[in-house]
Amino acid sequence: MSKAARRFMIMVEFFAHVNEPSMTSGSSSSVHKLISTPRPENYLSFCCLNFDCAPLEIFELTTIADMQLIYTEISSQKTLFSRQTKQESSMDRVVAAALVLFFAVMSTRARALTSDYYDMTCPSVFSIVQQEVQAAVADEKRMAASLVRLHFHDCFVNGCDGSLLLDNSTDFETEKDAPANLDSARGFEVIDKIKAALEAACPNTVSCADILAIASRDSAVEVGLTNSYTVLLGRLDSLTASKFQANASLPAPNMNHAALVDNFGKVGLNETDLVALSGAHTIGRVNCTLLLRFALNNVDINSDFKANIEQACNANITGLQNLDLTTPDNFDNSYYSNLLKSEGILISDQTLFSTAGAASVAVVQNFASNQDAFFSQFALSTIKMGNIMPPAGQQGEIRTNCRVVNSASSAKLIAYE
Ligand code: HEM
Repeated sequence: MSKAARRFMIMVEFFAHVNEPSMTSGSSSSVHKLISTPRPENYLSFCCLNFDCAPLEIFELTTIADMQLIYTEISSQKTLFSRQTKQESSMDRVVAAALVLFFAVMSTRARALTSDYYDMTCPSVFSIVQQEVQAAVADEKRMAASLVRLHFHDCFVNGCDGSLLLDNSTDFETEKDAPANLDSARGFEVIDKIKAALEAACPNTVSCADILAIASRDSAVEVGLTNSYTVLLGRLDSLTASKFQANASLPAPNMNHAALVDNFGKVGLNETDLVALSGAHTIGRVNCTLLLRFALNNVDINSDFKANIEQACNANITGLQNLDLTTPDNFDNSYYSNLLKSEGILISDQTLFSTAGAASVAVVQNFASNQDAFFSQFALSTIKMGNIMPPAGQQGEIRTNCRVVNSASSAKLIAYE
């Protein structure tokens, strides 16, 4: 039997058993064991029972992670499928199963983020990104903050798809011109340099959205995040951008607690994620124009602290202030101790501690006294944010230049589920 046919048969078998949980045969129980615990040994026992211990590599498309995604896919189609299968012959069932499965595999390919995504196609991806980030941060320490922010502003607008990086075109307005980004989001040249280096090493392989995810992690680590985390990869770059959606999705600095919880909730992030990710304001700068306009009218703010900032900003209206006045360029937990002193510079910061009865209060207190707890949660919440997917049906590609979509002829489109 050919390799492709063998893989096909395995998938059919897998699918058939998933849809018959009542079956008690050895192969069925091995399938369910595999689903509940997708470990290599369970995978092997499933394969051995059905297909003479075919090694994992034979399936190409079917890593253990894929298996789980397929299972999720299958579960969502299960009702429909079992209704259909009641009237069908067993052969029809196999064909139907194979078809559904085929589409499941194809559609989940683009979604499945994995840590080893570029191991075969671009093994130097991590070292290249790290090298460029280190050079940029050595050149200007603030760049670490700017790069961390880019990943956030990318992910919150239609998922992590590199849409933020696209310049204006005749087809859409750039997200860079949305108020939250205009004269504010920065670091695009660093991303260009990273992309150029990656195109030289492994052309048409690494997405711009993945570059943002790796660069964000490396930036935070470069300025003090001690527990590095594994970045999941395999995102696609969008074919479009949306200034409208950027306006609708990015949180504003004068939002109160309820509005922030709602804003993060819309992308699947909870209050703990909100507090942990806001901790990125332990580094970076804010524009005085913005502070004077609407971020410093915070009722909870320490009055001396407020007066000092106002004085500094009035003396230089186009200047910048540090987001964390204690240790402005170090990634640490002083952002949270500042909040305990009512020295959060944005309303959206201080409200996390000053909103009586809010769950965020205890989280702030915990992170203020326990930097390790903050670091661990920051890593977890960043991974969660990095998993925000573009809307179902959106097509993607690997852009050659992060600022423009590929021309139609060179575009290799892949659809999200
Ligand atoms: C909770 C809602 C948030 C609001 C309302 C908010 C708002 C802001 C504002 C107004 C600035 C200053 C921009 C300027 O003046 O140019 C800023 C800077 C920054 N934000 Fe946020 N932010 C939020 C959450 C986050 C998150 C989740 C991250 C990353 C995980 C983040 C990372 C940063 C960084 C690192 C900077 C400094 C950038 C630089 O110096 O270039 N922010 N943010």
